[in-house]
Amino acid sequence: MKVLLIGSGGREHALAWKIAQSPQLTRLYVAPGNPGMADVAELVALDSTDHAAVVTFCRETGIEFVVVGPEAPLVAGLADDLRAAGLAVFGPSAAAAQLEGSKGFTKDLCARHGIPTGAYRRFTTEAPALAYLAEVGAPIVVKADGLAAGKGVTVAMTREEAEAAVRDCFSGSFGAAGAEVVIEAFLDGEEASFFCLCDGRTALALGSAQDHKRVGDGDTGPNTGGMGAYSPAPVMSEAMVARTMDEIILPTIRGMAADGHPFTGVLFAGLMITAKGPELIEYNVRFGDPECQVLMMRLDSDLLPILLAAATGRLDQVEAVWRDETALTVVLASKGYPGAYAKSTPIRALPANDTTTRVFQAGTALEEDQLVAVGGRVLNVTAIGPDVATARARAYEAVDKVDWENGFCRRDIGWRALTRG
Ligand code: AMP
Ligand code: GLY
Repeated sequence: MKVLLIGSGGREHALAWKIAQSPQLTRLYVAPGNPGMADVAELVALDSTDHAAVVTFCRETGIEFVVVGPEAPLVAGLADDLRAAGLAVFGPSAAAAQLEGSKGFTKDLCARHGIPTGAYRRFTTEAPALAYLAEVGAPIVVKADGLAAGKGVTVAMTREEAEAAVRDCFSGSFGAAGAEVVIEAFLDGEEASFFCLCDGRTALALGSAQDHKRVGDGDTGPNTGGMGAYSPAPVMSEAMVARTMDEIILPTIRGMAADGHPFTGVLFAGLMITAKGPELIEYNVRFGDPECQVLMMRLDSDLLPILLAAATGRLDQVEAVWRDETALTVVLASKGYPGAYAKSTPIRALPANDTTTRVFQAGTALEEDQLVAVGGRVLNVTAIGPDVATARARAYEAVDKVDWENGFCRRDIGWRALTRG
């Protein structure tokens, strides 16, 4: 089978690496991909916003299955257009991708189906939003409704901060994404990410992970796309996973189907494990980045038939087998990230990949045969081991072999798991 993977980050490198190991694969194409994937896939300069061009490429190349990595093409309806052209696609329709594309949509779904999440209200103008803040006080969370590249959420410890966030949204700081604002109750607890594959009717639990969103050690500094992750998340015990499936994931799958937009693809639940149990913070409709990298390190099964089963309504016929080990990834980013950073800085050496350690590439490019950093998050140094301490030691040992002057990383990935009693 010929497969096309859409995307170019570390998440897609990890997916490409796993898909490429499948005996069912004849050839893997990635659009646009990055140099790290070149040894497992053919890189194609396709613009994924041009849906007709993607369809034409698939027809001319004999692609049978398309896997979409990032959320933007899903929200824009790429999966719908590919399905309309008769292709099998891993990823939700634009209607189902609203689970990520609109926070208000997800909150309303939760309300209708009794899914545990913070109490909330939706607003399209400033005055009633400010009046609501006066009523509920702080701490409180203010969110731009739409996709705001991870920047649209303010966890406000004071009412003034919350008011500033509301004004910021309605003054256009997030463009169309901020035209509607969701104000929701602050949830207290430990965060975890939980991943399931869905085929519209059923869900297959994949596993859990914990991300490190702040740029600095000790969870300080501005938010990023994620500076490191490990899987599994200790807080997601078997009992907690069972409750999450019963109380959050399965009602969502049933609710989406009943509402006429069945969800297929990967459902990534951002959870807060509160004193009451798991509560939904948000959904994403794609794998997490860098959470995907640690999940792929732990997956023993062939990924391709599992993704295909999700895309074709046969998820009840497959199972996923996981290594009973911990995987951990450290993100190396360009100095300055998440703010401005220099581009085209040379990466002179990378550690060799082996059975326990592997470097996935994200924001890299080749310039005159020299590997250079062109993005904010650039390398994901990933390792697996019998426990989080071993995985972490292996990952940092490899990190120290990276020769890239303009790179930096957090030195404390996994701290929460290591300091648990
Ligand atoms: P989101 O983009 O919705 O994942 O939000 C970004 C981050 O804000 C989350 O990872 C949480 O750390 C925090 N957050 C979002 N919603 C809440 C909430 N209701 N209570 C507490 N923290 C939240
Ligand atoms: N690492 C968080 C995300 O992918 O949304």
